[in-house]
Amino acid sequence: MKTKKFYITTPLYCVNAKPHLGHVYTTLAADVLARHLRSRDIPVHFQTGTDEHGTSIERAALERGMEPKAWCDSISKEFRSLWKKLNIRYDHFIRTTDLSHETAVQAVFEKLLKTGDIYPGSYEGLYCSSCENFYEESELKAGLCPVHGSPAEKVSEETYFFRLSRYEGALLAHYVKHPDFLSPRHRAQEMINFVKSGLKDISVSRTKVRWGVPLRSAPGHTVYVWFDALLNYVTGPGYNPEHPSADFGQAWPADVQLVGKEIFRFHAVIWPAILMALGLELPRKVYAHGWWTINGEKMSKSRGNFIKAEDVVRDFGVDALRYFLLREVPFGQDGDFSIEALKRRYNSDLANDLGNLFSRIMSMAAKYLDHRLPEKPGASETFRSLSAATGEIDRALEALRFEEALELIWRGIGRLNRLVDERKPWELAGNDLPGLKSFLHEMIWCLRVVAGWLDPFMPDTASKMQLQLGVGRSSDGTAPHKLPPLFPRKQDEKTGDISTN
Ligand code: MSP
Repeated sequence: MKTKKFYITTPLYCVNAKPHLGHVYTTLAADVLARHLRSRDIPVHFQTGTDEHGTSIERAALERGMEPKAWCDSISKEFRSLWKKLNIRYDHFIRTTDLSHETAVQAVFEKLLKTGDIYPGSYEGLYCSSCENFYEESELKAGLCPVHGSPAEKVSEETYFFRLSRYEGALLAHYVKHPDFLSPRHRAQEMINFVKSGLKDISVSRTKVRWGVPLRSAPGHTVYVWFDALLNYVTGPGYNPEHPSADFGQAWPADVQLVGKEIFRFHAVIWPAILMALGLELPRKVYAHGWWTINGEKMSKSRGNFIKAEDVVRDFGVDALRYFLLREVPFGQDGDFSIEALKRRYNSDLANDLGNLFSRIMSMAAKYLDHRLPEKPGASETFRSLSAATGEIDRALEALRFEEALELIWRGIGRLNRLVDERKPWELAGNDLPGLKSFLHEMIWCLRVVAGWLDPFMPDTASKMQLQLGVGRSSDGTAPHKLPPLFPRKQDEKTGDISTN
């Protein structure tokens, strides 16, 4: 039997709008975890993708005079090319319009109709077509959707229900038995309270939505987009109740499912209930991260303040964006994005602390070591105590405390900077050449450790550093000649034009 892979998922992003910083955030976090595990030789399956059915998507296509599928193709492609640009290395990109997904969704529906977990009825409720979600009167804010602020429409139609109420007790028991299933703690409690307040069955088919997966045994009905989309996590690795697949067992259950806080309820309540109905194991962890505001304001269509990752990358580079998003704000909390804050972190953490340290050492190494690199780590106290932080950094990263992992790395960088200031190697050059050489050897080994730590967060920077530090080039023991600085300082002049649209 093949070993089970560590399965990481992101939500499937809606193709009703172009990718923005919020989407980048979840996908980046998943990528960092995946890269870290791969570097420890743990087999990983990282899945992301696009959610392509529903009225809002059909409408977005029609507004542009396009067929829904052609529109989905173009936006889904934009997501993939952005992930490529941002160095996101996923294993599978699933689209809810993939034939294998659609047929598996149909098969799931038929299976649950047979078990009685899905049954026919009729529904009347308040619906927000941007969320594709029903709301209770009490959940609306002055009659408007609490997430989008748009009017919720009264909808009445024949529908099939999923018997969510049947799983109330089993869900509560699962939350108690597996205290790490939902994270972070404060958000988990909200979910538990919600389930305790009583679960109602939910509508899972539509007669008014054309752009969706048709039900095999109920012509005129399409599958409710959330029911369709949630199933991606199992259909992606091959689940189809009518066609068992060996690959599926290699990935399922998911080890970490990352979602934003606004869709936690779907993933913490409805999703596990669907899995219970299917007799499938539950994911090991569902983690809800916080939301970014832009210059203190909510990102929204009406404000037109979506930040394009491409613009940030053009001005600051991929790794600065990757660093900033995971360093600035603890992962489970909300945070604010501004170009000023990014520029501050860029100049102080990246250009100064890391970039200067690296270029000071590398230029002295070029001059005094004649590009010859040390083959073995010196048994120095600095090297030993620096490396000792690896375990703590790994633990923080694996617990999704990215900002803490980065803070620990920067603590190490700070110690190396202080050491350079204290030992003043430029003075040793005049009076103690052997002392200088051994200090530089020590620093090169320490920087190799730092580059390894940075690798999952900033893969390009880490490989530039490793190239200059001669990692994996021990054959001739030499380093290439000096390359451009890792992070050229940003002056005070206006940095490009980061448009929000
Ligand atoms: N299609 C659904 C998810 C279905 S999963 C089975 C959906 N898509 S979405 O395009 O709206 O993307 C939602 C995800 O984007 C959230 O989980 C969150 O990760 C991310 N974000 C969207 N806006 C965000 C912020 N302002 N800040 C941080 N992340 C946010 O919901």
